[in-house]
Amino acid sequence: MLRLKMLILLSIVVSSVFPCAASDDKRNFTEGFYFGVMPENFTWGVSTAAFQIEGAWNEDGKSESIWDRFSHEGGHIALNQTADVSCDSYHKWRDDITILKELGVKHYRFSLSWSRIVPDPTTGEVNQAGVNFYLNLITALKEAGIEPMVTLFHWDLPQILEDNGSWGNETIIQQYKHYADVAFSHFGYWVKYWLTFNEPWVVTWSGYGIGEYAPGIKQPATLPYLYAHTIIKCHAQAWHLYDTTYRPRFNGMVSITLNTDFFAPKNSSKPEDVEAAERAAQFSVGWFAHPIYVDGDYPQVMKDYVQRNTNSTDGSSRLPKFTDSEKLFIKGTFDYFGLNHYSTSLCEPADAAYQASVPKGYLGDMEVKLTRDPKWQKSSSSYLYYVPWGMRGILNFIRTNYNNTPVIVTENGVTDRNGTLLDFFRIQYIRAYINELTKAALIDNCNVIGYTVWSIMDNFEWTSGYTQKFGLYYVDFDNPQRPRVAKQSGTWYKGVIADHGFPDPMFPPKDDLRRTT
Ligand code: NOJ
Repeated sequence: MLRLKMLILLSIVVSSVFPCAASDDKRNFTEGFYFGVMPENFTWGVSTAAFQIEGAWNEDGKSESIWDRFSHEGGHIALNQTADVSCDSYHKWRDDITILKELGVKHYRFSLSWSRIVPDPTTGEVNQAGVNFYLNLITALKEAGIEPMVTLFHWDLPQILEDNGSWGNETIIQQYKHYADVAFSHFGYWVKYWLTFNEPWVVTWSGYGIGEYAPGIKQPATLPYLYAHTIIKCHAQAWHLYDTTYRPRFNGMVSITLNTDFFAPKNSSKPEDVEAAERAAQFSVGWFAHPIYVDGDYPQVMKDYVQRNTNSTDGSSRLPKFTDSEKLFIKGTFDYFGLNHYSTSLCEPADAAYQASVPKGYLGDMEVKLTRDPKWQKSSSSYLYYVPWGMRGILNFIRTNYNNTPVIVTENGVTDRNGTLLDFFRIQYIRAYINELTKAALIDNCNVIGYTVWSIMDNFEWTSGYTQKFGLYYVDFDNPQRPRVAKQSGTWYKGVIADHGFPDPMFPPKDDLRRTT
């Protein structure tokens, strides 16, 4: 009897974590290619971020950001490259509009530079030149029939705030709220989609845990938790501000973009691997999503594991606690779910050797050994393995854990493989990932309402500089004009957008004018 109960419980856990793995699952796991056209309102787009494309790092009143400082310091970025000019979108934004129109995208996701708009957040003074730059871009997008999708914070913290105590100084919450207010009030009329933060996991872990990203601080045991706590509060402030002051006028949607792998059990018939996969997911996407989308608080498993790894005598934990009123304030601060997804990890309980190999703190607290299947195809980004079914897995995870909230995939894409305009691997990758998304939407009823390729053009890939290229368009960084040239994948993606997915060639839509027979 007990064995039977255990089996039933296990199959429930397996099917919610890894819906394709359970044999008694009602949904069919569809192998191979699945023809299907997305629902009418589904939106297709491409994405960029201010620091990665704009250049003009110190023009027209913009102040220094932590990524300006980090890249200028030397020693952190491949070939010591900088983003001082990058794609020069600050001057060449009209060229960006041209290629967006060429692709036929429905939305364009880009970020605002805080240090361009409010160069000194401690005084709060607004830099009109910065505002004008974005006004030009946004109104030109609207004229072209493209919805702007605006991220407020994509990693480029004004250096002044870093020097002022960073995310550890709670005055940043009001400073961030003020910045959000400036953005909502100036651009809200035109902007339907807002994102408060891009990938807070990367901000906190890569920036302040392992220190690989700006500002390069290595405090893996404490700072990621503390800073994430503040970031979640900033997010909630911005959402409430929009909800009360701007929604009645502009009726847009505000969310946050979370990055996550799909976490699959290494061996799906082992309950401990299934549990490890669930724990890894709760520690990564759940860290931010559980407070916002579920109950205002961190996932219970995360609270338990950080607590037991804190080893305190007084029962305190390195994971901070929200007060009851904070929980109420944070819970429900979303209008959709922004998802950045690229790859998958395999999970099993961590053994002692693995624990000894990871930095003490967040990664060790999770007690999960994360690996990749050596058979998976690699890309030139170390984190990015080609595992298309993970897209379907993570969308189902969101469906089951976050009440089938509407999801916009705000980033997905891959690095160049052969460095030519004939980027067939990118086409293979994006085609397979969109196809798994199609299965998630049309077979599994995942409420996915949009998809966005990272990135429209080659740009500054953080510590990899220009050595890793994600673009649908090639940019020649040696040419002062920075021409944007379509790769094969750009032309191909244009077709997917025009077709609204993958129409079945045997049963084409009646109005398909491109058919020759
Ligand atoms: C995630 C980040 O949001 C973006 O800035 C980065 O360039 C891409 N992933 C590719 O690594």
